[in-house]
Formats: sequence, C-alpha cells, structure tokens
Amino acid sequence: MLAQKPPMGWNTWNTFGADINESLIRESADAFVDTGLKDAGYEYLVIDDCWSEYNRDPVTDRIVPHHEKFPNGMKVVADYVHSKGLKFGMYSCDGVRTCADYPGSFDHEFLDAQMFAEFGVDYLKYDNCYKPNNADGPTLYRRMAMALRASGRDILFSACNWGTDDVWTWIRAAGAHMYRSTGDINDSAESYRNIVKSQADKFGYSGPGCYNDIDMLTVGMYGKGLVGSVGCNDADYRSQFSLWCMFSAPLMLGCDIRHLNEQTLRLVTNRELLRIDQDGECRPPIIRDCLWDDTSRVMLKMLDNNEYAIAFYNMGEKDRTLPMLFTEFGLPAHSGYGFKVRNLFTGEDEGFYKEYMRIPVKAHDCAVYRAQLVRDK
Ligand code: GAL
Repeated sequence: MLAQKPPMGWNTWNTFGADINESLIRESADAFVDTGLKDAGYEYLVIDDCWSEYNRDPVTDRIVPHHEKFPNGMKVVADYVHSKGLKFGMYSCDGVRTCADYPGSFDHEFLDAQMFAEFGVDYLKYDNCYKPNNADGPTLYRRMAMALRASGRDILFSACNWGTDDVWTWIRAAGAHMYRSTGDINDSAESYRNIVKSQADKFGYSGPGCYNDIDMLTVGMYGKGLVGSVGCNDADYRSQFSLWCMFSAPLMLGCDIRHLNEQTLRLVTNRELLRIDQDGECRPPIIRDCLWDDTSRVMLKMLDNNEYAIAFYNMGEKDRTLPMLFTEFGLPAHSGYGFKVRNLFTGEDEGFYKEYMRIPVKAHDCAVYRAQLVRDK
C-alpha cells in the first residue's frame, strides 16, 4: 500500500518555479543524501510545473520534455534520482493546460499516465487549472487515478485542487494518496497561520492512504525564491514545521536543499518531531485557543504507545506565557494523573505537570513536548 505514512520529500515549485533543469535535479538529489535528509526519511524528489515544451508532439500527441531544461529526457533524470535511493515525482494537470500554461492531461490521461510510468515516475502531483467548465472535478481525479493504476507502476497520486468542491468528502474514494486543501502558501507568518486556521477542524478526514496536504513547507526559504514573499524567521519556521507535524501532514520541503543552514537542517531532521508527524495512528490534535483571543493555540495529540504530543503556539507579536488546562482536553485533576514531558527542541526532560502547564513562549515561536500520562506519586 502506498502512503502508509504521510509522504516526505522536496518539490521544486516554492523556490524555483519555472527555473528548473537537469542539473538542479541532480544536485538536489545529491543534497538529499549528503545532508542526511534521506536518512531522516525524506524520500520523494518532485519536479513541479514547467518541465515540458509548450505544445504536445504533433505526431505522437505526447508531452515533450523541454529541450533545454531536460535535454536528455526524463528517464535519465528519474534513473539518477533512483540511483540515490530516492523516489521520483512529476506534475500534470486535469485541465487542457497546466497552471503555468504548459500542456495538461485533460482527455490524455491514459496516454500521459503510461508516459509517466515509462519515465519511472513514483509520484504524480495533479493540478486543477484550465479545466473545461462542463467537466466535473471529482470525475477527472478519478479518471487519472484509474489511468495511474492501469499504468503498471505504483505511482503515488497527489491531488491539488486547492480544497475546491469540498475535496475532503470525495477524494479518498477517488483514489488519491494526498490532497491539497488550500491555495498556495507563501513565505510569511500570515500565510502558514491562515492555512492552519482554515484546516484545523478538517483533519478528521486525513489518515493512512490519503492525507490532507496543507502545501509545501517554506521552512528555510528566508524570503528567497518564487514564493519568498516577506520571509519568516527561525521562530516561525519552528512553528510552521511543528504544526505540519502535529497534523501528520505530508512534509514536502520547498527551500533550496543544496544550501540549508544549520538551524533549518536541524529542524527538518528533528527525529522527535518527525516521529510525531509519522505516528502510526495519525490522529489530529485537539486544539484550544488559550488566551481567549485569536493569537495563541495549545494542542494535544494522541500518539501510539499511549503517548502524547503537546504544543504551544504564540501567534502574537509579544512574548507571553501560555496556559494549558488539562481538564479542557479531557483530563480531570481528581484523576490523580498528569503529564511527564520532554521538550523536543532542547531534548530535556522538564518534569511532571498536574492540572495545567504554563509555558513562556516568545512571539511567533512555539514549545513542543512529548508526554506520558502518569500517576502523581
Ligand atoms: C498551483 C499549485 C502550486 C504549483 C503551481 C504550478 O496551482 O497550487 O503548488 O503547482 O500551480 O503552476
């Protein structure tokens, strides 16, 4: 079965947009291995939009790889990615053109799926632009899912219709392994916070085999690249990355992985955070705003092995102490139980809390713990 855990990898779009080519892909595949991303579990290297010529081949009707960007075709690129022990992803669209106006797969689904399989593709991101008005979105996703299944290759199907048509209600049945539920992210605090707010109550639909995809991460972009926007600081990146983990969302990096700084690398390879993301039970967190305004959140996520993840998010502009009342999450004080916690950024055991926690958190930052529910001695 594909996608037993939330998929992890890297995608070209956030940083490079149309500016992609074979050397970028080779260098990025090397970087997966050399930086330790691969060892940490990152697996899929995905080429997004803009990889082809503007028109299909008039004789074969096939999409043609761009002659300057990918002069040796895509099979060679896929082979290189596979030689590094990674999986290879590509992109198409359910409309007649892709979002950046290259040929889309509408009415060519089976032909294109066969071509992707011949290239050696393991993952297909499938966008939603330039769809004929009389075409039904769910039908087009089902059609491509069937074309991929008929291709003879295991290809993870990553649907990207930005949450339209109440996607969460039908996409699992349509055969996708993950589904974009929001518009495009950019590298700003406002963007990742809005994404989380809009999806916080929708993760009940997300789980093994088909995950809510809240977009590629901007962690480590620092305002550079296509969706660079105003940029974020490291506190924001800790918040963004750990939020994606609390939701067990797919983790697709979007920064230039050839030039990761130490903080970014440490964050995205934090084994404890990754364990939360990849937790086998894949439960969404229970969420409360803790200061009766819209600028803080506390979360409790049940994990397997009877453990928990606890997280505090300060989305305000001032440093504050954030309270978490255990009774609001279901644990009464008279039970005699409380949480023994370990801070996942410092690695330190921070002792036992009964009834409540009060944790100082700097503006834009977060605190994340792994917790065990134990009896007070
Ligand atoms: C958007 C999609 C982005 C990116 C872009 C390519 O629709 O949400 O993630 O794939 O198209 O043109």
